Amino acid sequence: MDSQRVQRIEHRSEGLAIDNTPASDLARTLAYHERTKHRLERYAAGPDTLDWSSQPDPFRRFAGAPRVTLPLAADRLASSYGALHEPGRVAPQALGLESIGLLFELSLGLSAWKEYGPDRWALRCNPSSGNLHPTEGYLISQAIAGLQDGVYHYLSCDHVLEQRCRSELETRPRLFIGLSSVHWREAWKYGERAFRYCQLDTGHALGALRYAAAALGWRLHLLEGVSFRQLQSWLGLDRSEDFSAGEHEEAELLLEVITDPLATQVGETPDFDPQSAIWRGKANRLDPHPMYHWPVIDEVAAATRTPGEKGEPVMIEDYPPRVRPSSLQASAIIRQRRSAQRFDGRSQLNRQDFFHLLDALLPRPVPPWDVWRFSPRLHPVFFVHRVDGLAPGLYILPRSANAKERLRELLRGTFNWSKPQDCPDHLPLFQLAAAGCGQLARTISCHQAIAADGLFALGMLAEFEDTLTTAPWRYRQRYWEAGLLGQVLYLEAEAAGLRGTGIGCYFDDVFHELLGLSGNAFQSLYHFTVGVPLTDSRILTLPAYPQQQ
Ligand SMILES: Cc1cc2nc3c(=O)[nH]c(=O)nc-3n(C[C@H](O)[C@H](O)[C@H](O)COP(=O)(O)O)c2cc1C
Repeated sequence: MDSQRVQRIEHRSEGLAIDNTPASDLARTLAYHERTKHRLERYAAGPDTLDWSSQPDPFRRFAGAPRVTLPLAADRLASSYGALHEPGRVAPQALGLESIGLLFELSLGLSAWKEYGPDRWALRCNPSSGNLHPTEGYLISQAIAGLQDGVYHYLSCDHVLEQRCRSELETRPRLFIGLSSVHWREAWKYGERAFRYCQLDTGHALGALRYAAAALGWRLHLLEGVSFRQLQSWLGLDRSEDFSAGEHEEAELLLEVITDPLATQVGETPDFDPQSAIWRGKANRLDPHPMYHWPVIDEVAAATRTPGEKGEPVMIEDYPPRVRPSSLQASAIIRQRRSAQRFDGRSQLNRQDFFHLLDALLPRPVPPWDVWRFSPRLHPVFFVHRVDGLAPGLYILPRSANAKERLRELLRGTFNWSKPQDCPDHLPLFQLAAAGCGQLARTISCHQAIAADGLFALGMLAEFEDTLTTAPWRYRQRYWEAGLLGQVLYLEAEAAGLRGTGIGCYFDDVFHELLGLSGNAFQSLYHFTVGVPLTDSRILTLPAYPQQQ
């Protein structure tokens, strides 16, 4: 057992000292998960009332930090969406301010402003539950032309880097991206369930970054073995003096950007000492009058902080290459990504197109899945509504052979597990039951019509308790994988002329019961829907960065 794991860290919650052994971390994580389930008879605890006029500021700023304006260059980026999926097809861009600007512009950057009556809100390339955007992006740069060495915060609304710290680092050019969450942004609206949404949003942001890097011909390496404390310190998030007015941020993950396609030396961590660096800037207050506090979010956050353990053995099936012949501009697909608010409820999807879309969810060593060097632990279950030549009903796509066996044991014994006609041999898609399931999907998705009116909807079953026993922090990782799957679905839907929407609001156990699942071996962590969208022409769309055009 890892020594850091058994170290007792005292923290206070409602006056009680809490021990942080893996067993109690696991118990707290499972208890959090259980109590934040939405149930038909009651939703997870959240605010009774919301004052929309005092919504937290969607943009974190660091007052007093020097700013570096990033160029906007996505319009000029020629890479096609299809080419992103073929390693070596996109020539790597030189590392510099313009390419760093592009990386952010196409991942965490704004994609549009929307206006309806007196209301105006920004959309970003990465989606977010409730458009609340709890995910913040950081950059650690070493020896990059045009950028002083140090740590920067990305401020999406102005497309600038705020220099948080200056530090003389080593001479070899290196770049890292860190992600963090501001829990309060989500908790303000969603109460206790918000921690789940922050993790899903992190997964989406990870996917958005991986696609953007691929459009530049770059790779991303998700660093394992970096402890929460270390990352918190590198990103300057443990500097309480800089957050005395602003809400706390919680470090999530660190990515190394690899621009040399032949690089073999990957996985090294930044080598600077945050303690001896000079830090600048004070975090702004996002919500001056918080009306609630949800201590259970602090508890689950503490229980799921990584001590910096290195990976588990990886088992990935060898799938044949997937050819995506899309010549559409990658930057266009990425920036046009939106969540559908309504679907037409009648269009049909061609069966081969459905299979092709699902094929994108299989883990292969190409973008975006090459950033996820873990065994696939999430397995989508589909509510098929309108796919030509495919009986409406429940279908499953186990993303590993082991999971398929386990799911066959645990799911309802009456499921037929038959392979649909014309389904490619390598695609592990099985029909569980044939039946119209529009109403069911809608009810399970907190009665949202988008789950019934699309072409199909899905829930993502995660391998759960057994995989968390020795490493409760992987609770976050399960959600990141779900968010990554969601990001693939969003972009593949756009590329196919369709539209997706993430569904964080669903009745957990109603879905489990439908599948005959009891216990904690598998839990559904995220739902999604894809269809032909109806757009609301009353809402105006304005440019993302009018001030810089
Ligand atoms: C984790 C997550 C959960 C979401 N849950 C829902 C949902 O339950 N219902 C819904 O209509 N939209 C949902 N959305 C879509 C968001 O509302 C949408 O991403 C946000 O408003 C930003 O709009 P955009 O995706 O068009 O940029 C979800 C998105 C994410 C990332």
